[in-house]
Amino acid sequence: MADILVVVGSTYGNASLLADDCTEQLNRLGHRAVLLNEPTYEQVTDHPDVILICTATIGQGDIPANLQPLYDQLRAHRPDFSAVRFGLIALGDSSYESFAEGGKQMNELMHDLGAKPVGQALFIDSCETPDADEAAAEWIDNWVEKL
Ligand SMILES: Cc1cc2nc3c(=O)[nH]c(=O)nc-3n(C[C@H](O)[C@H](O)[C@H](O)COP(=O)(O)O)c2cc1C
Repeated sequence: MADILVVVGSTYGNASLLADDCTEQLNRLGHRAVLLNEPTYEQVTDHPDVILICTATIGQGDIPANLQPLYDQLRAHRPDFSAVRFGLIALGDSSYESFAEGGKQMNELMHDLGAKPVGQALFIDSCETPDADEAAAEWIDNWVEKL
């Protein structure tokens, strides 16, 4: 069983709803998952075991406003995440020039901080994936096997 922080980046609610479902699923599967819709630096650096980032992209390849302060603080303070494992679900729309760039930036930052990726990140393109819930649920089922 893992302690999992589910860190959300969302402007219009899609990523937030998806993360909510993922959190429920993780708890049903026997883990202790906590949803952070307004993730703070303190919460995320309080010795988490696993972090699951679920973020959309806004603007022109930007991180959603609720997640940007955490991103900025992590970049500024550079905590040692070498004991942290993480997963990433990135929502985006490939009709935008910078597809899922918010998720990509978070992914890069976690790597920079030494966090260890668990499995492959899931990129959900709303142009190609009509049912994001189904895609995420399938991905979570596989992801937990690797924890
Ligand atoms: C104003 C606006 C800007 C967006 N910019 C991007 C972008 O640059 N890259 C991308 O991949 N998706 C972009 N998207 C698509 C969103 O990431 C996608 O619709 C996502 O599901 C929104 O999630 P949210 O409801 O959690 O904010 C944009 C959507 C809107 C409405």
